[in-house]
Amino acid sequence: MSEQDYVDTIDNNDNNSNDNHNDDEYEKVCFVCHRPESVAGKMINLPNNMCVCNDCMQKSFDAMNNMNFGGAIDYSQLMNMPGVQFLNIDDMSQQISKQQRVKKKKEGEKATPLVDIHNLPAPHKIKASLDEYVVGQEYAKKVMSVAVYNHYKRVATDSMDDIEIEKSNMLMIGPTGSGKTYLVKTLARILDVPLAITDATSLTEAGYIGDDIESVVSKLLAAADNDVEKAEQGIIFIDEIDKIAKKKNASQRDVSGESVQQGMLKLLEGSEVEVPVGANSKNAMVPLTTVNTKNILFICGGAFPDLDGIIKERLTKQSAIGFGADLKDKYDHDKKILEKVTTEDLRNFGMIPEFLGRLPVVFTLQGLTEDMYVKILEEPKNAILKQYQKLLALDEVKLDFTEGALRAIAKKAMEKDTGARALRAIIEEFMLDIMYEIPKDDSIGQVTITQEYIENTGGPIITLRGQEVPRLESQA
Ligand SMILES: Nc1ncnc2c1ncn2[C@@H]1O[C@H](COP(=O)(O)OP(=O)(O)OP(=O)(O)O)[C@@H](O)[C@H]1O
Ligand SMILES: [Mg+2]
Repeated sequence: MSEQDYVDTIDNNDNNSNDNHNDDEYEKVCFVCHRPESVAGKMINLPNNMCVCNDCMQKSFDAMNNMNFGGAIDYSQLMNMPGVQFLNIDDMSQQISKQQRVKKKKEGEKATPLVDIHNLPAPHKIKASLDEYVVGQEYAKKVMSVAVYNHYKRVATDSMDDIEIEKSNMLMIGPTGSGKTYLVKTLARILDVPLAITDATSLTEAGYIGDDIESVVSKLLAAADNDVEKAEQGIIFIDEIDKIAKKKNASQRDVSGESVQQGMLKLLEGSEVEVPVGANSKNAMVPLTTVNTKNILFICGGAFPDLDGIIKERLTKQSAIGFGADLKDKYDHDKKILEKVTTEDLRNFGMIPEFLGRLPVVFTLQGLTEDMYVKILEEPKNAILKQYQKLLALDEVKLDFTEGALRAIAKKAMEKDTGARALRAIIEEFMLDIMYEIPKDDSIGQVTITQEYIENTGGPIITLRGQEVPRLESQA
């Protein structure tokens, strides 16, 4: 039997078993070299839903032939070797999981836009949905809503005419705990384009321990069900971007800082990149696929600690001479200092100019104020207070906070300077006793947290069942 005959028989044998296999949408992947069908060419089907590409099949025939004539391996010896087992074919077919398989590209068809241009959510609608969750940060919400809206439009018109609308990648700067990650997560929830949120912290230059830079695109691919076309129209948010700043006076090769920025240049600008499917780095065992990042919108975000110091230094230096000279500490308590950021400041922080040039839209989030803290406590759809009220409602106890108590919590949070995350820590602390004591006593109907209780000068007001009062406003 010639090689080709053999191949054909295998092909035929397996056709029936493949028919009832319903993942036709996914590309076949060579079981030996892990290349997908679009790269390696037509696959040869083997039993148990495995496939092998022509090259690998040929190689194995060659190997067999060489052995026959050259006598490289003595099979009788092989079986007696310790640790040698028979292969279990069933195990092998499990090796390439669905996670690692790419959806087939539809031949000849143009990319189908994900969104219908007449039903786009307008920027004010996107912002309204953000408003339900995120307090303040009006400017940031506006910029992002418009960016997303334009992104939708670009995706929708992509295949329509010659005028190509270019994307504008964004850089978001804001103090810790001011809602950067939260904003994007909320956005992800209300959008229906694929959106991947990734961290820059684990990225390293290819070849070093850590994730390859292309893994950010892999995440988007996973978010789009391994559908390359869909992923090419998605949004990638890269958090903690400040952590890849160039290290100052580093004598070794900077594999997790500057090199990552350099590696990201081509992604940001738009190019064909080879990405690992279902894995974080390229190696022999993962299939690769090509994704064009031309239409992928990148949003980078970071806290950029100490950036305010750099801005302050620049501002005071600028005006240090002449009559208009500012006092040295003029900007020390300026909450809006970050808004004055320029590319020069970011460069001083350690971002390379080529990187910054590819993020044309730079916007900042404000540090939270006392009023914002109070609002964050009670207003968003899943506000912390609402969460605790729900918890106690299960015990049929009503939980209330006086205005004064809210202010006192906000003041405490301001002191910690860790943003809105401090709120949870503070509330957790004094709710402990209440959560412990309340279920003991069935007659309690309402608990009111007072300013005195927060400030450790008094206790909460406990009201018995049947005597509940509406919210006390006395201390406000
Ligand atoms: N403006 C806001 N409105 C409502 N909730 C907020 C706001 N800012 C922060 N929070 C709350 O604080 C939490 C932490 O915020 P987030 O994770 O967005 O911080 P961050 O800006 O990403 O900080 P970091 O730079 O440290 O990562 C959020 O989960 C959210 O509950
Ligand atoms: Mg964050």
